Amino acid sequence: MNEHRAAARPRADITGREDLAVLLRRFYTAAFADPRIGPFFTQIAGTDLDAHLPRITDFWERALFRTADYKGSALAPHRALHSARQLTAEDFGRWVQLWRAAIDGLYEGPLAERAKAQGERVALTLYRRLAGADAPLTGRGPGFVPLAALELRSASVH
Ligand code: HEM
Repeated sequence: MNEHRAAARPRADITGREDLAVLLRRFYTAAFADPRIGPFFTQIAGTDLDAHLPRITDFWERALFRTADYKGSALAPHRALHSARQLTAEDFGRWVQLWRAAIDGLYEGPLAERAKAQGERVALTLYRRLAGADAPLTGRGPGFVPLAALELRSASVH
């Protein structure tokens, strides 16, 4: 009986850096393995996940809790990637889907919602900055998930 109660326990919200570290390791493990966006990390940038995680954790800790001292630029590395191989609406759409799936698999609550919305907003901003203000939000593939399409939140990852 006890194990049933444990299984039904509601997920907790993101409470701080430790939770972000768990979330980000899970998200980037999925992103690196993803056939669409994985090669940007593994082949183009040659990202060392253990080196990347502390910086990205600072970025998210700053974004959600205002406690970390992230002073980097999220735009610069993506500009470099984009000139090596175009980052498309579908690529950013996949990033958003994986981000939502990682959060929904672990956490639930106002901070989890804010992290999802913020990831989506940064994805949209980066895409607009790289591809241009008039670039299409949908493509031929599974498509970009626009900010307005909140009902697509539960769309499957594939
Ligand atoms: C298809 C979409 C994306 C791809 C393929 C991608 C890939 C990458 C890669 C390869 C790097 C460089 C890592 C290194 O140093 O080796 C990077 C850095 C980074 N990305 Fe992305 N990214 C994407 C979208 C996003 C989004 C939507 C966010 C929003 C939170 C984001 C946040 C960052 C940040 C904060 C950095 C680190 C900048 C720094 O070093 O200070 N990325 N990304």
